[in-house]
Amino acid sequence: MRKKIVAGNWKMNKTFSEAEILITDIADALDEVDLKGAEIVLCPPAIYLEMAMDVAFESNFKVGAQNIYPEDSGAFTGEISPLMLKQLEVSYCIIGHSERRKYFQESNEFLQRKADALLRHKITPIFCCGEVLPERESNKHFEVVKQQVEESLFHLPVEAFKNVVIAYEPVWAIGTGVTATKEQAQEMHAFIRGLISKKYDEKTAAGTTILYGGSCNGKNARELFSQPDVDGGLIGGASLKTDEFIQIATSF
Ligand code: PGA
Repeated sequence: MRKKIVAGNWKMNKTFSEAEILITDIADALDEVDLKGAEIVLCPPAIYLEMAMDVAFESNFKVGAQNIYPEDSGAFTGEISPLMLKQLEVSYCIIGHSERRKYFQESNEFLQRKADALLRHKITPIFCCGEVLPERESNKHFEVVKQQVEESLFHLPVEAFKNVVIAYEPVWAIGTGVTATKEQAQEMHAFIRGLISKKYDEKTAAGTTILYGGSCNGKNARELFSQPDVDGGLIGGASLKTDEFIQIATSF
């Protein structure tokens, strides 16, 4: 079902006590604002998920993980399984983030397994896709995003696909302070929706939540979220500051 979502990707930031303060501050602030039906998702480092869930049970936000390994258990030292997330009642998990593609060589095929593993446990994947700058400059951005979405998600039967959230994150916009223009975001989001419509059907495409990510902040969120195919944002740096994150969360 298409939703308005603002998700905070904390990446590898905050000590335990800082994380506890940020989560409770955000929870308190969310009680005071009108979210206009938007769902707020906090994705702290895995080691803080249990603490985040304790706060979330009493608050107006959901919790997401930043990564999983696509098996329920086994000899995968250092990894965390979707079964473990399920038991904590975590609702979302980011997969395919460009940092994981770049630093951990995650391929479209491997991400396909992650999507399957999460959906098996009814955890919603937030699937990230997006081109690097040379790909945009050589006009290959549509082709790249098409391949990422097709190779990692389009094996899914329609009923499973309906439980996926997509985040378009142009890599050149992540953590750089350079945001995609509202036209660039809208154009790519409409393109992705078109792919879904062709692969599945129009209703499924219209029902898919597609978030924008990449230097989204309190100043530009409203303009981006006002685009017809932009359903919210995946927020990195600006999700680490309560006031700015709340500003973004109330930008619909
Ligand atoms: P940013 O990161 O908002 O700091 O650009 C977004 C992301 O990586 O998800």
